[in-house]
Amino acid sequence: MINQTIKIRIAESKDAELLAELGAETFHDAFADHPLMPPKDLKLYWNSAFTASQIISELNDPQSIFLLAEIDRQAVAYAKMERGVTASGVTAKSPLKLKRLYSKQKFIGFGVGALLMKRCLETANEHHHDTIWLTVWEHNLPAQKFYRKWKFEPCGEIEFEMGNALLTDLIMQRSI
Ligand SMILES: CC(C)(COP(=O)(O)OP(=O)(O)OC[C@H]1O[C@@H](n2cnc3c(N)ncnc32)[C@H](O)[C@@H]1OP(=O)(O)O)[C@@H](O)C(=O)NCCC(=O)NCCS
Repeated sequence: MINQTIKIRIAESKDAELLAELGAETFHDAFADHPLMPPKDLKLYWNSAFTASQIISELNDPQSIFLLAEIDRQAVAYAKMERGVTASGVTAKSPLKLKRLYSKQKFIGFGVGALLMKRCLETANEHHHDTIWLTVWEHNLPAQKFYRKWKFEPCGEIEFEMGNALLTDLIMQRSI
């Protein structure tokens, strides 16, 4: 289906609105229909996490790196990394957190995620991180499968506040 070139670039301040829209759409589509996701809590989180002002402050954070994947100049997926953040169970001297990795629904399964992941690993290497780690909802099995394919291994669990609900995420890591 995808025969156009996928381009990956680092997002800048001017991309804030675009990233807010992409973040909101992809997060909603990933979880809104999941039978185990509490809908009210998802909505509470969704309303606050993807405002343009929230994304602007994340883009301005020197520890954050956003990557945008574009096809034919249209943003189709993104990744967000955070430098220097760690969690219990992560065994790293210099960790890089892969905070978000989301693709538009219609592009899932065609290699956009793989290209973003490759660039995340390259970024980790360029910035001399020894480990990349992430959290993934315990019921998000397709994403867990994707991460296992990329050699991430579970190393703990952490609670994630979604609105007023506490969800359980797996922590997964891989060395660089
Ligand atoms: C995780 C994600 C970014 C991967 O990107 P992608 O472009 O689909 O990945 P690729 O095409 O490079 O790789 C395909 C692999 O993705 C995995 N995958 C994850 N979700 C999938 C889905 N809904 N449909 C098909 N494959 C999926 C499969 O393991 C597949 O492996 P296979 O080829 O052995 O079957 C993307 O599936 C996505 O945005 N999912 C929804 C959001 C999400 O859950 N993000 C992670 C939050 S922690």
